[in-house]
Amino acid sequence: MKHLLKMLDLSTEEIIDILNLADQLKYELKHGIPHNHLKGKTLGMIFQKASTRTRVSFETGMYQLGGYPLFLSSNDLQIGRGEPVQDTARVLSRYLDGIMIRTFDQKEVEDLAEYGEIPIINGLTDFSHPCQVLADLMTIREFKNSFEGLKMCFIGDGNNMANSLIVGCLKVGMEVAVACPEGYRPAQEILDFAKEYDCFTITDSPMEAAKNADVLITDVWSSMGQESEIEKRKIAFKGYQINDEIMTAAKPDAMVMHCLPAHREEEITTKVFEEHANEIFEEAENRLHAQKAVMVKLMAE
Ligand code: CP
Ligand code: NVA
Repeated sequence: MKHLLKMLDLSTEEIIDILNLADQLKYELKHGIPHNHLKGKTLGMIFQKASTRTRVSFETGMYQLGGYPLFLSSNDLQIGRGEPVQDTARVLSRYLDGIMIRTFDQKEVEDLAEYGEIPIINGLTDFSHPCQVLADLMTIREFKNSFEGLKMCFIGDGNNMANSLIVGCLKVGMEVAVACPEGYRPAQEILDFAKEYDCFTITDSPMEAAKNADVLITDVWSSMGQESEIEKRKIAFKGYQINDEIMTAAKPDAMVMHCLPAHREEEITTKVFEEHANEIFEEAENRLHAQKAVMVKLMAE
């Protein structure tokens, strides 16, 4: 594994290796056991979109590993004034040991990896959010002990989260059911991957998808960059909400997760959100541990 660009690139074995290391790093942090695997290393973090969790967990994680994180806002970088990503990649490769980038186009992340000489980590694009899904898988395994026999149901937009969850959950052996309105389905590349699995279904009925689910996941109806579509999307996604009725279709002990930030009373009711806050905030915490594992895998010698 040279980069973390999207879930499609990871083998099942690589995913499990990352999750195992993440569990170990979580244990070490909680027990005050030093884990300076990246002593003296630097991580550049390029942000072309807003972030709370990704920025703070990468920055803190790098510090905990003994390394040094640099926050690089695209407003201040020449990339924001049109310097090609190919040149940025070749320059930053000479200063840094790794780059985390949050941007719009997946191609920009792939280009950084192609032209640079250091590991690239995708901190979210319009197409994928692999760091979040590794933390989600870690959380599912933490609460349910194993992935065996579990069904994950995603309700909402076929966005970066849906794309990445479908691939991640199928690769670790879970059943996956997705409910999206027509016109808002996941990327074709993801559907082509998923159709090889008998345990994958896609429907426009949230109740049908939620049936007997062990894990219910949703995300915002309008992602970053889709601000002009908010009103149109509120109409298209009406009914694509995790609420008490959906919970009756799922297993009684079903978990609920959300990558955050959440829009209460849109994709999830306040009631369900608060009843499952335990899982949702452990999921947020696990960003730190999962990303530390990714950085160690990619950047430690
Ligand atoms: N879930 C997530 O990526 O959160 P941020 O946008 O706050 O980084
Ligand atoms: N789908 C959301 C996820 C935010 C973490 C977005 O891209 O804005």
